[in-house]
Amino acid sequence: MRGIILSGGNATRLRPCTKVISKQLLPIYNRPMIYYPLNTLIKAGIKEILIIVAPERAGDYLNLLGSGKDFGVKFTYEIQDEPRGLADAFIVGENFIDKENVVMILGDNIFEDDLSAEIKNFKSGGKIFAKKVLDPERFGIVEFDANNKVISIEEKPKKPKSNYCITGLYIYDSRVVEAAKSVKPSKRGELEITELHNWYLRKNELEVAMVKGEWIDAGTFDSLLKAQNLAKEKLQNKLII
Ligand code: DAU
Repeated sequence: MRGIILSGGNATRLRPCTKVISKQLLPIYNRPMIYYPLNTLIKAGIKEILIIVAPERAGDYLNLLGSGKDFGVKFTYEIQDEPRGLADAFIVGENFIDKENVVMILGDNIFEDDLSAEIKNFKSGGKIFAKKVLDPERFGIVEFDANNKVISIEEKPKKPKSNYCITGLYIYDSRVVEAAKSVKPSKRGELEITELHNWYLRKNELEVAMVKGEWIDAGTFDSLLKAQNLAKEKLQNKLII
């Protein structure tokens, strides 16, 4: 299993704090934000991790994280020239993924849960993780029927069909590269990750598990503040790097 951390984008929502620094390097209590998703992957035993960054920030990531030797893993870096969307990560990462399964985590997503078993036990298809939220129009949303079977997955729907948001950790087999190449840009001009979930759903090969503990997408000032408190109150004794 290979790991990808998607850490590009230009984080305009967090200006001016992100004018000269990448969002995913902002401090969350006592560590740079990216350390939290890195913890999730390294804890799960992932040894080869691709970090995808925006061109103007690449040097900062190299200076902070280096080769990975200090963490007992190997980092590879790729530049995403433009923020073309989350699914683009699997096109940028094609050579790195090769024929392996891959787990991708967003550089601004912080999970309280230890997802190591879910990552280690993955065999094939696609597996994603849902969490009940109060503001579903901000996220990818999954709708279940009475037997918990997935009926639909939509990106930031105006009229959400449920409150179950898809969090930013995705496990796929290597066919995800082929799937990503088949995605057409959405109305907002991005290759949407929800298209990949739907690609596996159409084949009846998508599994959706629930996130039990807290989960934060630290992409707004309010969620950033929540993440700071979660990190201080609940995450300190769970971190390995
Ligand atoms: O956090 C979970 C949500 O993440 C999911 O529910 C949605 O389905 C998914 O589309 C995504 O929504 P966001 O609105 O949070 O995506 P955002 O554009 O903020 O990008 C997420 C992270 O990925 C962010 O840290 C920046 C990075 N990124 C984003 C894009 C579009 C890249 O590195 N490259 C990109 O091209």
